[in-house]
Amino acid sequence: MAKKIVIAIHKGGVGKTTTAKNLAAAFAKHGKRVLLVDLDQQANATRGMGVDPFEIKYTINSLFTDPELNVTEVIISSGIENLDILAGHPDLGKTETGMALQASDPLSSNPIEALKEILEPVEDLYDFIVIDTPPALGYMTHNALAVGDALIIPAAASAYSEQGVTAMWSAFESAQKVYNPKLLKAHILVTRVKRTNASTNVLDGLREEHSQAIMPQLIMESTAVDEAEQLGQTVVTYDETNPAAQGYIKVAEILING
Ligand SMILES: Nc1ncnc2c1ncn2[C@@H]1O[C@H](COP(=O)(O)OP(=O)(O)OP(=O)(O)O)[C@@H](O)[C@H]1O
Ligand SMILES: [Mg+2]
Repeated sequence: MAKKIVIAIHKGGVGKTTTAKNLAAAFAKHGKRVLLVDLDQQANATRGMGVDPFEIKYTINSLFTDPELNVTEVIISSGIENLDILAGHPDLGKTETGMALQASDPLSSNPIEALKEILEPVEDLYDFIVIDTPPALGYMTHNALAVGDALIIPAAASAYSEQGVTAMWSAFESAQKVYNPKLLKAHILVTRVKRTNASTNVLDGLREEHSQAIMPQLIMESTAVDEAEQLGQTVVTYDETNPAAQGYIKVAEILING
């Protein structure tokens, strides 16, 4: 049964999507069967894998809106061996608004259980399911937290990172208590690390606050990440010798062994 890894923090631009797609590519590189799930209406994980959400017949939004549709009809191949995608779509924003309305109707099913039902039929086909979430603690992120086995909180090594991590940590603890006791572990992954004093100060602050949860492996800032992104690739497949790619390959190893 697949281990479901959620990448989430409501702070924007800290490396959630970069972590989701590169971790997925790194698992695949280690020979694991992986499904990358894009829950963000920006669909950056989808586009960043070279897929245009408007050019494909179905996306995960189709599964949220049509209960008759089978998930296997929606999953597409990434072109990378072992790595499949459940693409995102801009209409996920509307779906999320619908979930909020559904939550206020006592006769409707619980809207945070929707993703669990979608993924159930394919859980045995994969070793890892990596879920990218939007920069908000809304229904999409709660759907991901409700189905996850582990959480990765990316924290960019830059100003105001700590506040974002602390708030996400509280969300993790309440998800564990209120609706998903299987969500056993949260890791803080420090990304976009530069060799500057400012970057080092943020890293020291995070280590002080969350020493148990910080992953030993850091992800370095590298222009190759953006270059790969613009080509619709992961940095892991674009240049595996790059320090950021090496970081993601090692994080995947840690998660495979842990
Ligand atoms: N290690 C890195 N080195 C260089 N650039 C990076 C690195 N990680 C992320 N970036 C760049 O930073 C930008 C934001 O990253 P990303 O899209 O992964 O963040 P996000 O948290 O998913 O954003 P959002 O909250 O909007 O979904 C992207 O342009 C990405 O290419
Ligand atoms: Mg993103």
